[in-house]
Amino acid sequence: MSKEKFFTAQEIERMPIHIAAIMDGNGRWATKRGLPRTAGHKAGSETFRRAAEFMSELGVKYFTVYAFSTENWKRPAEEVKVIMTLFERYLNEAIESMAEKNIRLNFFGDTSVLDGKLQKLIERTQQISTAQSGLCVNVCINYGGRQEIAMAAKKAAEEVVSGKIKADDITHELLSRYMYSADIPDPDLIIRPGGEQRVSNFLLWQSAYSEYYFTDKLWPDMAEADFVEAIKSFMNRNRRFGGLK
Ligand code: IPE
Ligand code: IPE
Ligand code: MG
Repeated sequence: MSKEKFFTAQEIERMPIHIAAIMDGNGRWATKRGLPRTAGHKAGSETFRRAAEFMSELGVKYFTVYAFSTENWKRPAEEVKVIMTLFERYLNEAIESMAEKNIRLNFFGDTSVLDGKLQKLIERTQQISTAQSGLCVNVCINYGGRQEIAMAAKKAAEEVVSGKIKADDITHELLSRYMYSADIPDPDLIIRPGGEQRVSNFLLWQSAYSEYYFTDKLWPDMAEADFVEAIKSFMNRNRRFGGLK
């Protein structure tokens, strides 16, 4: 079991419940090797597969990955197409192996604009997921933190208009229930490989007290040891949540 291989019993007690990752650096990984950017996305999707299995072995409960942002549509159509095809391939494989691996898949983002075939696969994956009890992997596709907050505000406004709630009932707890992450605890640790030290519209609402870990490693190069380093860094931090300890 890898958990014991990498962590002491005391450390295991401090294991984050929810880890998130901004899967960045695929394009640069490929360019460095003289390959097309799309080869980087392919390598990145393999890293995602391995990372999810590793999180499951570590006993992490939630793993949220940023796969495609609301801003990534600005990229050349050909690159977007390859990314969507890789999702399709991943979901087809996941449908076959999810039960055996006991991994649940959940999706954050506006999936209604995705290709019909992809939407069907997403639905099917979600159906199968209801029967699993293990690691919950939240895949953020066409996800943007600002879009998510606006969506939640719109839902709250609609409930006010319909008379279900009053404007005064709108609290941050209520808005949390309208986010894609309803019922899921906020991320403890957000890992961003790829060398950029920014949020890029990821989990704006949920990251109020998340710990960040930035590394220059590119996403496709992220191996078990790199995730362990990020988690150990998290374990040594003092989270005060505004208090004094
Ligand atoms: C992240 O890698 C994957 C997506 C945004 C879909 P990038 O494609 O952003 O890789 P870099 O940052 O250009 O290296
Ligand atoms: C963030 O990476 C989005 C994903 C990894 C899906 P980007 O490459 O899109 O972020 P920026 O453009 O460098 O901020
Ligand atoms: Mg990038």
